[in-house]
Amino acid sequence: MLEEKYFKKNETVSLKILMLFEGLSDGILVLDPDDQIIFINKKASEVLGWDQDKINRTNLKALDMDQKIVDFITKARNEATEIVEEIEVDSWLELEAIVKDDLLGIVIRDIRGRKKAQDEQKNSYESIRNLNTHMQLAREDERATLAREIHDQLGQRLTGFKMEIDYILRKSQHLESFVTEKLRNVINQIDRTIGTVRNISRNLRPGILDDFGLLAALEWQADEFTKTSGIPVFFQYLGEEKQTDNQKVTAIFRVYQESLTNIMRHAKCTHVNVLVSFGNEKIVLEVSDNGQGFDPAILKNQKSLGVFGMKERIESIGGKFEIESRKGQGTKVILEMPLKMKP
Ligand SMILES: Nc1ncnc2c1ncn2[C@@H]1O[C@H](COP(=O)(O)OP(=O)(O)O)[C@@H](O)[C@H]1O
Ligand SMILES: [Mg+2]
Repeated sequence: MLEEKYFKKNETVSLKILMLFEGLSDGILVLDPDDQIIFINKKASEVLGWDQDKINRTNLKALDMDQKIVDFITKARNEATEIVEEIEVDSWLELEAIVKDDLLGIVIRDIRGRKKAQDEQKNSYESIRNLNTHMQLAREDERATLAREIHDQLGQRLTGFKMEIDYILRKSQHLESFVTEKLRNVINQIDRTIGTVRNISRNLRPGILDDFGLLAALEWQADEFTKTSGIPVFFQYLGEEKQTDNQKVTAIFRVYQESLTNIMRHAKCTHVNVLVSFGNEKIVLEVSDNGQGFDPAILKNQKSLGVFGMKERIESIGGKFEIESRKGQGTKVILEMPLKMKP
């Protein structure tokens, strides 16, 4: 439908072009400066729910229209530039405004399909995330059980052996010296095995985390790090530790361990700073090194999943994770964990 003031009848080419627009699968609406409709194609009338034959020269103000579309038109007029917005009316529409002199053209696209695909993608991403969180929990549970069993059962049995041999040594006066020596050797080996059992158990899940809390576990892990790497850790904390959900505490601790492992493997630094702040709203942990740093862009296109896993683990339970680094400038991991669940 065409307003003659703008397209004279003899301009047949223009007319033909506009007739082509009539059959488009996108809606087109053209308004003059007074909001009179000077062109609208079939699709636009359908989408907006208007009878195409009855709205020639009608002013927009006289028509029934969703407020979101009215707002969009007002905004397009005010800004006088091309704008694109997605709005939800009866279905999802994408509106694109095009300004040419005193005319305002609006392209209306039905984006139900696109929105549906986006929703599906989002849902499947959420399912994967939930599954991942569930698997983390199951894994931590298993590790904790295994750690306890190894420590208790195996540890107790080994101590039992040791006591038996000790008993023989103390009670038999007439053992040949080589037997005494062998038995002492066995005791030494049992002691070492007890040490190994403790290490394995601690690596699976440090009991200190459950018995003494996050702060103690972080400090202990820093000491372990210094023992194996020789790199000193300056450990500081602010505020007072509060009782915190086990899942969050575990996630913070695991990410901290992974950060220290990364420092050991990649940083080539001479010291590490750790700062933990216990606030009322959140726990913030910062781990920085003065090592060689790296360009974070490499994280986007490499196969190693350490940093990706840390970020995912923290974000999936409502926290924030960032890694800041530059070549030659060291690396800083910043983790924020809110203490309250989001409503
Ligand atoms: N503290 C750090 N110092 C220097 N480089 C680091 C540090 N942490 C991470 N990186 C860089 O980021 C990369 C990705 O780390 P990550 O995802 O944990 O994978 P991985 O440790 O298996 O290589 C590392 O390969 C390394 O190049
Ligand atoms: Mg790593």
